[in-house]
Amino acid sequence: MSENKILYEGKAKQLFATENEFELIQFFKDDATAFNKKKHEIINSKGVLNNLISENIFKYLGSKNIPNHFIKRLNEREQLIKKVEIIPIEVVVRNIAAGTFTQRFGIEEGKKLPETLIEFNLKDDEHDDPLISDEHIKVFKWANQLEINEIKLKALSINNHLTELFNSIDILLVDFKIEFGRTQSGNTKEIILADEISPDSCRLWDKKSNEKLDKDRFRRNLGGLIEAYKEVATRLGIDLSSI
Ligand code: TMP
Ligand code: ASP
Repeated sequence: MSENKILYEGKAKQLFATENEFELIQFFKDDATAFNKKKHEIINSKGVLNNLISENIFKYLGSKNIPNHFIKRLNEREQLIKKVEIIPIEVVVRNIAAGTFTQRFGIEEGKKLPETLIEFNLKDDEHDDPLISDEHIKVFKWANQLEINEIKLKALSINNHLTELFNSIDILLVDFKIEFGRTQSGNTKEIILADEISPDSCRLWDKKSNEKLDKDRFRRNLGGLIEAYKEVATRLGIDLSSI
């Protein structure tokens, strides 16, 4: 991608400009980070697997009428996406208690929540992605109330579709993080799903053994991250013969 201008570098991805002002290239790196970069490693092929898994999930959500930024996969690490203005909020959807939620409320990992819970974190590494409420989002004008409502509805719908998808391959969707962006659609701005959905951004447990098939393998030094991501990809029906 060296001939294209880099527009953004995140912890696990880079974004490049293309000749088309409405399209970007999203490149998946092998970097694994946790606890806001306090833990960092390069894990060979992670980017390739996340590119394939995210492609598969965005196509699936597209087929369920969830508008999203994915256009097509270009090669093993890159996909062509629609350019959006990212809303700087990490939308976390939780079905089962895990991660920071268990620490914050002293609830044991694995407890099913009485209802699906949506939380918001500000995308702000310098301040450790603080937990925020609708009120912060409105006061700081990161989004307006109508957009917040739309984001919540979309997040719940995505949760329903992903829970069904993973359930069909014997995986429990514990929680996940998604991001949204604005695109111009005629005179109005449309909110669409952006970023990635992969085992980096979801907690996925094998339904029979409860084995973790996601980035918690790295966060908790469990080993076997690539094997776990390959297992998710294989169950999704992704062809891994080229890896
Ligand atoms: P948490 O338990 O660490 O708050 O994370 C909840 C879910 O959201 C988990 O699946 C990981 C994902 N997530 C990210 O992928 N990136 C983030 O920056 C955050 C805060 C969460
Ligand atoms: N924001 C975290 C990081 O530093 C994400 C995580 O802990 O998974 O990468």
